[in-house]
Amino acid sequence: MPERLKSVLVGVTGGIAAYKSAELIRLLVKSAIDVQVVMTDAAKQFITPMTLQALSGKAVLSDLWDEHPVNGKANRMAHIELTRCADLILIAPASADFIAKLAHGLCNDLLSTLCVARNSESCPLLVAPAMNREMWENPATQRNLAQLVKDGVVILGPAAGDQACGEVGMGRMLEAPELAAAVHAQLAPKFLSGKRVLVTAGPTYEAIDPVRGITNRSSGKMGYAIAQAAIDAGADVTLISGPTSLQAPAKAKIVNVQTAEEMYHAVFSMIEKADYFFSVAAVADYTPKTVSNQKLKKSVADLSVDFVATRDILAQVARLPKPPICIGFAAETQDVIEFAEKKRQAKGIPFIVANLAQEAMGADDNEVAILDASGAHPVPRGPKSAVARALVAFVADRISGPTRLKSISRSG
Ligand code: CTP
Repeated sequence: MPERLKSVLVGVTGGIAAYKSAELIRLLVKSAIDVQVVMTDAAKQFITPMTLQALSGKAVLSDLWDEHPVNGKANRMAHIELTRCADLILIAPASADFIAKLAHGLCNDLLSTLCVARNSESCPLLVAPAMNREMWENPATQRNLAQLVKDGVVILGPAAGDQACGEVGMGRMLEAPELAAAVHAQLAPKFLSGKRVLVTAGPTYEAIDPVRGITNRSSGKMGYAIAQAAIDAGADVTLISGPTSLQAPAKAKIVNVQTAEEMYHAVFSMIEKADYFFSVAAVADYTPKTVSNQKLKKSVADLSVDFVATRDILAQVARLPKPPICIGFAAETQDVIEFAEKKRQAKGIPFIVANLAQEAMGADDNEVAILDASGAHPVPRGPKSAVARALVAFVADRISGPTRLKSISRSG
């Protein structure tokens, strides 16, 4: 069930923020996107084509008359070929000069020409401005930007802050991870448009005393990736998270909890409104029977703590009279598929995602199998963001039917 490789054309224009484009290209390639870089001559004053070629794995183009093959095909006209195989164009950084060119439809180099030559229906244009604050505030720049918005161009940022010129204000290009997230959001098919999705993520922490406690090993990365993938698929997402060090997806409603009991109450306060419940959290199965208000002193050689079982949130949600579509996770250390399938049936849920705990925990990538009544469906190893997108697509397809997938097949 591999995702079709998406193609993004990254246009780099002349600005000091071009150094951030290197990281942007690395992130896009890492998340299984095929990247073609096109630079203006001015951009080469700030970063070399060789750097971007090494990161994208493809020759960087900048000449309107370039004869390099494009995507293995003979290149009769670079400005046409390049746009016909791109799912999206992102200009990052976009200088004031390049924004002015776009606003007026000028075609005097490869990058400006291909922006005009693209089909705006099938190849959206995203622009990440980067410039000095006075250049940003200049009425001509603002007029040009207003024109781009009218033309359906998506403007990403800029942000405010310290500038390379020493001044402080609006005009900093967004950071590479923010731009990569915007690309994914734009490319994602809207499988879950209008749906409400509840996600639990991370571990829970059960205190023994004010300084000690027990927890499960979980970075939260998979749950946060699923929240992001559901947002990108058009859902309204609430993320109930145990303690993690992760930045929550910008568009998620976030509810922070510590204990299994707090997670239980948070879930049940909003489960009735959810269409989908992704139970990704590594919820502690046991919690200390009593919690000491004071730090326990090291006065005894052996300390014993009594534990009581916590409530199984997912199993209880699945037993509701009208449960949402439940997707559980089973991190197993052996006999992964067999144990996960038993868990799916015991909890009475339609889907469970099985993975090998020791390989998945804390890692940036993952390899899983989705189990449903029809069997096990492997999702190949990939970054957790790509696995999350595949999972969201799979579940939405099973629930809404393949006809729905067909209607968005261009992007999916
Ligand atoms: N889960 C839950 N509440 C709990 C324990 C688990 O909601 N108290 C959910 C997890 O979020 C996950 C699924 O149940 O989606 C399976 O969790 P896991 O810890 O693998 O299984 P357990 O049911 O706890 O069984 P065991 O620990 O024996 O493997």
